Amino acid sequence: MIKMNRKYRKTIIAGNWKMNLLPSDVRSYGDKLKRMAAKIKWCDIAVCPPSVMLPAAIKVFNDSRIGVGAQNICDQAKGAYTGENSAAQIRDLGVKYVIIGHSERRQYYGETDISVNLKAKAAVKNGLIPIICVGESLDQREMGITIEQIRIQTKIALFGIPADKMRKIVIAYEPIWAIGTGKTAAAEEANEVCEEIRKLLRAQYGARTARSVSILYGGSMNEANASDLLAQPDIDGGLVGGASLDPEKFHAIILAANQ
Ligand code: 13P
Repeated sequence: MIKMNRKYRKTIIAGNWKMNLLPSDVRSYGDKLKRMAAKIKWCDIAVCPPSVMLPAAIKVFNDSRIGVGAQNICDQAKGAYTGENSAAQIRDLGVKYVIIGHSERRQYYGETDISVNLKAKAAVKNGLIPIICVGESLDQREMGITIEQIRIQTKIALFGIPADKMRKIVIAYEPIWAIGTGKTAAAEEANEVCEEIRKLLRAQYGARTARSVSILYGGSMNEANASDLLAQPDIDGGLVGGASLDPEKFHAIILAANQ
C-alpha cells in the first residue's frame, strides 16, 4: 500500500525516548537502528533522546538519513533562564526536530497553550521542525469535547505562524489516555481527530498547505497496531514512546510505515 498522500506530505516515524536510556547507550542503539533502517525509503525517521544525549545522537546518526530531535526547548530566545536550552542552541548542535507541548510537559511542568505557541515560533524561527503535540484527556473525551479541545490547542499553537512555514511543521495527535497505557485509540477514531486537525488547517491556510502537513498519531503505538493506524488517510506517521526504546521494535514500526 503506497499511500496516495505521499505525493503531498512526508510519512514520519519519530521515537520519543522521554527520560529513558543513558548517554552510553546511544552508540549501540544508533548502530543497530542504522543497520536495520538502511534501506528505508518512504519514511523519514527521527530519534528524540533527552537533551543531554543529543550530541551523542548527532554523532552517531550523522552519516545516516535518521534525524535527531529534542524533546523540549525554552520559549525565550536567551538570557537568565537557568536550566533551559534555547532553540538556537539546540539547532546549533545539528538537531532537526523538536517535540513541543507534549502532554507530560503540560501536565508536570506547567506548559500552557500560550507557551506551546511561543516554543513553536522559536523553533520555526531557528530552523527546527516542531512536532506540536495536542490531545484530549479521558475526562474531556467522556464529556464529548475532544474536537473542541484539539481545535483550541492547535489554533493557539499555530497562532502567528504563516502559511509558508507550515511545510516545516508537524502535528502529533496524542490522546492522553492512550499514552503509556497500552490503550490505543481505534484507528478510525484516531483518524477522525487527525482529519479534524486537517480541516482546521484547511480553513486557516487553504487546501494546498493543509495537505502538505504531516499529522502523526501517538499513544501506545507498537509493532502490532502500527499498520492499521498508518493505513488511515489522515495519519501520516507516529510519535512512538515505549516501543521506540528497543531498536528492533522501533524498526518494525518503521517498516509498517515504509509500506
Ligand atoms: P507511548 O508510545 O509509550 O504510549 O508514548 C507515546 C508518547 O507519548 C510519544 O510522545
